[in-house]
Amino acid sequence: NKWNVYVTNEIPKPALDMLAEHCDLEVNRLGKPLPKSTLLEKVQGRDAVLCLLTDQIDNEVFKAASQAKIFANYAVGYNNIDIPAATERGIMISNTPGVLTDTTAELAWALLFSVARRVAESDKYTRMGKYEGWGPMLFLGQDVMNKTVGIIGPGRIGLSFAKRAKAFDMKILYTGRAPNPQFEKETGGQYVSLNQLLQDSDYVSIHTPLLPETFHLIGEKEFKQMKKTAILINTSRGPVVDELALVKALQTGEIWGAGLDVYEWEPKLAEGLSELNNVTLCPHIASATIETRTKMGTIAASNILTAMKGELPPNCLNPEVFKSKFDK
Ligand code: GLV
Ligand code: GLV
Repeated sequence: NKWNVYVTNEIPKPALDMLAEHCDLEVNRLGKPLPKSTLLEKVQGRDAVLCLLTDQIDNEVFKAASQAKIFANYAVGYNNIDIPAATERGIMISNTPGVLTDTTAELAWALLFSVARRVAESDKYTRMGKYEGWGPMLFLGQDVMNKTVGIIGPGRIGLSFAKRAKAFDMKILYTGRAPNPQFEKETGGQYVSLNQLLQDSDYVSIHTPLLPETFHLIGEKEFKQMKKTAILINTSRGPVVDELALVKALQTGEIWGAGLDVYEWEPKLAEGLSELNNVTLCPHIASATIETRTKMGTIAASNILTAMKGELPPNCLNPEVFKSKFDK
């Protein structure tokens, strides 16, 4: 039997085509996230919902979606979803891991180079007509090669980022919940404490999910431990960094610069952040390539279509829901 599926925002067409072929489909075409009240109305009577990281999917939403079997999140991160509440109500949740790993790592590198070599800053300068000829002291940045890079979170994205560091002959340090032998084998990275990593790294890149224990992982105390020449890159989730403390650290020269794709209160920026020259700021685009956004869509869609067939979706985050139904 045909499922009734709701998609909370427009995503690449191949994914919508996949769903439309097998389901009754409605898509939010407003081009922006739905207000909560509309979302609560729209999920009613749906068998499945394809949602985004800008949708707060909580118990209230699950209650409204009383017929839903699955919410497929169009993201690898799922801090926007209350998974225990979904499990309680017997709703499966899926994400889109794997396909955006290298794409996200590439943006982290783009940010790192932009800050180290002052690319965004000198682009503005050049456009403004300020360039009056080659200058020996014009926009002096920092070398990347042969420096020490510290990776917080040696998961898939952290590993992909680290592999690329090898090409620049960098020394690789990493920290996380536990040493990761595969990471060490593939990158030669050395496991250290967070303190050690902050003290020794020229570049620090964050690749951890947002969890209670990673909230404000980097704050005032941590900035003080970092080198004055250090650059912080964050392509994970904004609240992992205390953004007000970051602005202060950048203003006072506690660290040298930062490249950010995510913000503590996004889409809002912390006061003072956008006035700084030593930052490159992107609007949460780490997975935003044509190839990857298409794959994320088809993965989310196939999780829904697999659930429709009565099978366990490949990227189900709470498979115990499926098992308990299956066992009955
Ligand atoms: C993007 O931030 C994602 O989690 O996919
Ligand atoms: C995400 O895909 C990660 O595990 O880093």
